[in-house]
Amino acid sequence: MADGRAGTTEPVAVAAAVGFHGVGKTFSVPGGGTYTVLHNLSLTVGAGEFVSIVGPTGGGKSTLLNLAAGLLVPDAGDVLVFGEPLRGLNRRASYLFQSDVLLPWKTAEHNVMLGLQFRRLPPAEARVRARDWLARVGLAGFENRYPHHLSGGMRRRVALAQALIIDPEILLMDEPFSALDVQTRQIMENDLLELWQEDRKTVVFVTHDLEEAIALADRVVVLSAGPASRVLGEYTVGLARPRDVAEIRLTTGFLDIYRRIWEQLRGEVAKAYAQRQR
Ligand SMILES: Nc1ncnc2c1ncn2[C@@H]1O[C@H](COP(=O)(O)OP(=O)(O)OP(=O)(O)O)[C@@H](O)[C@H]1O
Ligand SMILES: [Mg+2]
Repeated sequence: MADGRAGTTEPVAVAAAVGFHGVGKTFSVPGGGTYTVLHNLSLTVGAGEFVSIVGPTGGGKSTLLNLAAGLLVPDAGDVLVFGEPLRGLNRRASYLFQSDVLLPWKTAEHNVMLGLQFRRLPPAEARVRARDWLARVGLAGFENRYPHHLSGGMRRRVALAQALIIDPEILLMDEPFSALDVQTRQIMENDLLELWQEDRKTVVFVTHDLEEAIALADRVVVLSAGPASRVLGEYTVGLARPRDVAEIRLTTGFLDIYRRIWEQLRGEVAKAYAQRQR
């Protein structure tokens, strides 16, 4: 090899794709006072890893993704992206929000093209790539439909194509399938896994649904109930890939890990519920 390093056995340090180091985030509350959402939270997500984050409602899951996206800045600690402190928007990530954020006045194709247009790709090339991505998410033939002419599942597919077309290294997903019916959801989950297997982007996937979290991920992270949430537990999911999300739920390996995580999560869910009753 030209650089003369052939045969070296020194380990190469690979920076995590996303690292939260002692992160804290406090919001001011309308009417006065503050609310600490996250306190001293540390978590690393390796390059190419699929990590699911579960936790009770209001525990700071979306806040965590917003920090990783660079939409929020931590009050304490650091957010690192491939080892570099994040300043401004995270340009190496795409963010799939929980709610629909497609532009209603643009067709599916034009919505998918947006990210490439922002990157100043010539429109003709952007169009070809948008059509290709729509086909990859199962929407060939729907290019000229407007969002209100598409079902909820189809709109999610357009949003997925919109997120993936810019070829992000990191995909941040906030309960992307929670509004879908069970069957559509399972099809979308399998499609997501198939796309992910192709080039293994780093995925941080937030969900309320522990079954979904396990079926998809390499690792499940449990956040505590707020305020001042932190990481309570991390569970490696050693289930073989490729996976079928419907089938894998029936295996004993799945049930074992489900029981272990639920043991911890149920207490946090109960705490969050009790807080809301006060
Ligand atoms: N911009 C903000 N200003 C004030 N408080 C906020 C703001 N964003 C979030 N919060 C509060 O921070 C807490 C955590 O919110 P977050 O949306 O991160 O929770 P979550 O875990 O995503 O909840 P859910 O599961 O319901 O989506 C909530 O109590 C919320 O009211
Ligand atoms: Mg949320």
